[in-house]
Amino acid sequence: MKRLFIVICGFFCIGLALAQTNPFADRLPEAAREGEELFGRNCQQCHNSRGKGGKAPQLVSGVWGPGGANSDSYMYQVITTGRPNTAMGSFKSSLTEEDIWRIISFLREEGRRVKAAEAKNKDTYVPW
Ligand code: HEC
Repeated sequence: MKRLFIVICGFFCIGLALAQTNPFADRLPEAAREGEELFGRNCQQCHNSRGKGGKAPQLVSGVWGPGGANSDSYMYQVITTGRPNTAMGSFKSSLTEEDIWRIISFLREEGRRVKAAEAKNKDTYVPW
């Protein structure tokens, strides 16, 4: 019984270690400033400035916006593994883990700004 308990605890700890959470969650605005620069150099040519979408999908509203269905860890996974057979490559070897989280922080902050702007201009807002 005791051994089973230890095994269960072991799996739980491994699970926690693997769960990808944003290490900058408590200082998003700061990380987002650095993330903006990184996004500009690595992602903007396809996802457009501020992630509003161009040749590639937008990354700041709807499912990617605040409260949207896509989690931080899902975003992290897409960026690290890429999407096979599309222009979306893997950034695993070109960006550090921390830089990927900085970019995600930027996109999340930008998502908040987009949502606030939409709420403010509800009647007149024209999506991109
Ligand atoms: C060479 C062009 C290109 C670059 C550079 C690029 N992407 Fe993409 N990205 C794409 C394309 C095309 C897709 C859509 C793939 C598909 O059809 O599933 C995509 C998809 C994504 C998605 C999933 C979007 C969705 O709606 O499912 C995320 C998240 C993403 N990219 C983030 C990034 C980030 C962050 C960077 C920079 C580190 C980046 N991408 C750089 C082309 C690019």
